[in-house]
Amino acid sequence: MERAIACARKFRGCGGKPYEYGKDVRGEGKGGAKGQRLKTAKGRTASSTRWLARQLADPYVQKARAEGYRSRAAYKLAELDDKFGLLKGARRVIDLGIAPGGWSQIVRQRSPSAMVAGIDLLPTDAIPGVTIFEMDFMADEAPAALESALDGPPDLVLSDMAANTVGHKQTDHLRTMGLVETAADFAISVLAPGGAFVAKVLAGGADADLLALLKRHFTAVKHAKPPASRKDSSEWYVIAQGFKGRT
Ligand SMILES: C[S@@+](CC[C@H](N)C(=O)[O-])C[C@H]1O[C@@H](n2cnc3c(N)ncnc32)[C@H](O)[C@@H]1O
Repeated sequence: MERAIACARKFRGCGGKPYEYGKDVRGEGKGGAKGQRLKTAKGRTASSTRWLARQLADPYVQKARAEGYRSRAAYKLAELDDKFGLLKGARRVIDLGIAPGGWSQIVRQRSPSAMVAGIDLLPTDAIPGVTIFEMDFMADEAPAALESALDGPPDLVLSDMAANTVGHKQTDHLRTMGLVETAADFAISVLAPGGAFVAKVLAGGADADLLALLKRHFTAVKHAKPPASRKDSSEWYVIAQGFKGRT
């Protein structure tokens, strides 16, 4: 059981809260971790118990753990890279919403000489070759901090940022789309010509204004849902390639 708990802690997810363990429960039903007993503290909500059970039953979580990735999200970037060739020849990469670090691990593995700068509200353990800022990307000083960590303009800006949900669907959607729009503006202001921007968007993909903006600045704009993205999740990714440069 200790192993299961360590695993759950390690893959606490994004914006995850630390877990406490107390009384026994069994993950059951859809996505449940059949046969694995989880200890839960008094006060843990039913949804966090369900989340934990789902993590323990998820083959991507187990694969990530076995292969040394910090998050199952690592496979989403790997799959997007397989499809769109994002990391081939990447020299400077910015990773928005880096914690716990799965995407940057993939970047460094597939482009070992790439310089990477990442930012997150949450702490991220060090990754060789990656400069990490524990900071709000929406803070005024964030763009300059990220740029200063690289020795030139990035050729790839990644955003896997997701706003912490408040449970109100429309508010959650607007908050996450606000992050994507700011990330897109940032990418357009820093990318090297020919560069690419990848961002998590929510169901329905990028909204019309964002899509129009990206189409003005990139030669190809597509949506994709990599196999590692849970089917029941509303997340998609927008992939904009061939940055036309600033005029
Ligand atoms: C889905 S997780 C990222 C997972 C990461 N790509 C990986 O592979 O490990 C989303 C992250 O976005 C971060 N985030 C959300 N809003 C943010 C903000 N305003 N500034 C910086 N990071 C933010 C969250 O803290 C969370 O860690």
